[in-house]
Amino acid sequence: MSESSTGKISNVLIETRVFPPSESFANQAAIGSMEAYQALYDSSIDDTEGFWAQQATEHLHWFTPFHTTLQWNEPFAKWFVGGTTNVSYNCLDTHVLNGRGDRVALYWEGEPGDRRTITYAELHRDVCRFANGLKKLGINKGDRVSIYMPMVPELAVAMLACARVGAIHSVIFGGFSAEAISDRNNDAQARFLITADGGWRRGKALTLKQTADEALAKSPTVEKCIVLNRIGNQPAMQPERDIWWHDLIADVTDDCPAEPMESEDSLFILYTSGSTGKPKGIRHTTAGYNLYVKRTFQWVFDHRDEDIFWCTADCGWITGHSYIVYGPMSAGATQVMYEGAPNAPKEDRFWEIIARYKVSILYTAPTAIRTFIKWGDHHVEKHELSSLRLLGSVGEGINPEAWMWYYEKIGGRRCPIVDTWWQTETGGIMMSPFPGAIACKPGSCTRPLPGIVPRVLNHTGPAGELGDVETNHGGMLCIEKPWPGMLRGIWGDDERYRQQYWATVPHMYLTGDNARFDEDGYYWIMGRIDDVINVSGHRLSTIEVESALVSHPAVAEAAAVGRPDEIKGQAITVFVTLKSHEPTDEMREALKKHIRKEIGALAVPDEVRFTSSLPKTRSGKIMRRLLRDIAAGKEGTGDTSTLEDYTVLVRLRNDDES
Ligand code: WT7
Repeated sequence: MSESSTGKISNVLIETRVFPPSESFANQAAIGSMEAYQALYDSSIDDTEGFWAQQATEHLHWFTPFHTTLQWNEPFAKWFVGGTTNVSYNCLDTHVLNGRGDRVALYWEGEPGDRRTITYAELHRDVCRFANGLKKLGINKGDRVSIYMPMVPELAVAMLACARVGAIHSVIFGGFSAEAISDRNNDAQARFLITADGGWRRGKALTLKQTADEALAKSPTVEKCIVLNRIGNQPAMQPERDIWWHDLIADVTDDCPAEPMESEDSLFILYTSGSTGKPKGIRHTTAGYNLYVKRTFQWVFDHRDEDIFWCTADCGWITGHSYIVYGPMSAGATQVMYEGAPNAPKEDRFWEIIARYKVSILYTAPTAIRTFIKWGDHHVEKHELSSLRLLGSVGEGINPEAWMWYYEKIGGRRCPIVDTWWQTETGGIMMSPFPGAIACKPGSCTRPLPGIVPRVLNHTGPAGELGDVETNHGGMLCIEKPWPGMLRGIWGDDERYRQQYWATVPHMYLTGDNARFDEDGYYWIMGRIDDVINVSGHRLSTIEVESALVSHPAVAEAAAVGRPDEIKGQAITVFVTLKSHEPTDEMREALKKHIRKEIGALAVPDEVRFTSSLPKTRSGKIMRRLLRDIAAGKEGTGDTSTLEDYTVLVRLRNDDES
């Protein structure tokens, strides 16, 4: 039987470097050895419900205790049934009541250079006041509120205020179009929209309110629009509908007790791109999500009181929800929050910020890391980065070459790197090194977090039945048991939820990613299931081909896709961005040779196309689907509303730089 009919995916790229935590890192870590990790993990698996029940009792504040840890009516989970709590209470009141109100919650920096320092007591006050403003407008528990704002502290305040009164927020990334906003407003039937007059991005004023107005013209359910004055550009205000943030809170008190919420009350909806045009609202609830993001934050980042944590994501993505707002704030962390672009005014803005606030933990995305490599080391070398003790990566696979650069240039070879694998749907991190315990291998997200049971399945049986793959064979990554942070469904579409995540592999959550595990039990993500390239019956992972290309010194970034080929089934086309080298025929041949050496003849691309940039979603993921169409000579028909830069697409189609 050929590999394609058994569905196996070949593992072709072998990475052998291993980086154990230093003794000094391990000694100060909460989980400081492999034995400690294993003991924690084993206890979470031996009695998963008992484990989470104890975690929930210890780490959340309960107005009413829960009586049932888990009700599992596949695929619908209810965690901590009978209990009431409030996420905003866990993020704010607990710290203030524990005498930690003077701790800094946020060091915020606007792109133009304006700065604010906000303590937990101040954040608590701001959230209470804004929540009282929402109440004045007649907000009810369960109402949906869209939030379309720049990365200012008020974005976190708006989210926490919704949580406080029991409204369900739907944060829409500030770079989205009017169309994307109205689609989301309408799908969620939002009653309110919270926005700002604008925000700063690469020196330009984004006119958010203007875009919001366009969206509101097509959002019949939205009654009120609250507008923060961020940039002072005096947008048009519609008297019946629009109200300034500062006017709304002018006459309210600081006192606003947190509403007791049922564990399974919805906390938020977050839309992710689906393969069809219809927005897919991922629904997360209260207690399970709150517990999961708090504990995974503490475990993965080995968080200590003196840390200064900086997650560079936008709150418009799940990373910002879970690891800027709800996880770190539940843990009482001190964070940096930055409004703008990494190259404003210059390409060293991140390193300047790290030096200024003495950031100790940096959590960013591979797409950013590859961009920094392209911009050049001199931007980094100008700044003092010795405050860093831990680095993190999220959003895509990190190519081993980018991993090494991050480790050496940013971390000074002293900082472990936590390569965190998870999804909007999983709520929080599912696999990652425990940095004081688990040795890193560049490109591997290493091991599962407590309570998480990953499985890798494929059609391995004699008649093509589903079964677990062997070591180092790729297959579909699934999760075996429900976990507290999991999505509870797709807003308004239970059937789509069941179909998409629970129908392919019986009794397991289908992640949509391919993965393999190695002889040490480490997991390696191989890319999305839909992106696999099938050459002459061999199934190749996009990440492996791309990582091999990125390991060539001239290559900054690469995307590999399959295009139809009569003989081989699929042929490989790669799109390559060079660092500063000339895109010549010699370079093309050199890259083919490089792949032959790194992987083998099987993976040598049939076509190498050079481009100055790759099409990406706004969160920085390469859009292989669009590249597939281009490689096949088809016009794209899919949804491009999440594309970062349309001109990139046009350039790729029309005047490909090759
Ligand atoms: C998809 C989820 C994770 C929160 C932000 C993105 C890919 C994510 C990794 C990683 C390899 C990764 C997967 C996943 N992905 N992290 N560490 N290594 N791939 O959330 O937009 O829901 O995307 O991002 O393909 O399924 P998302």
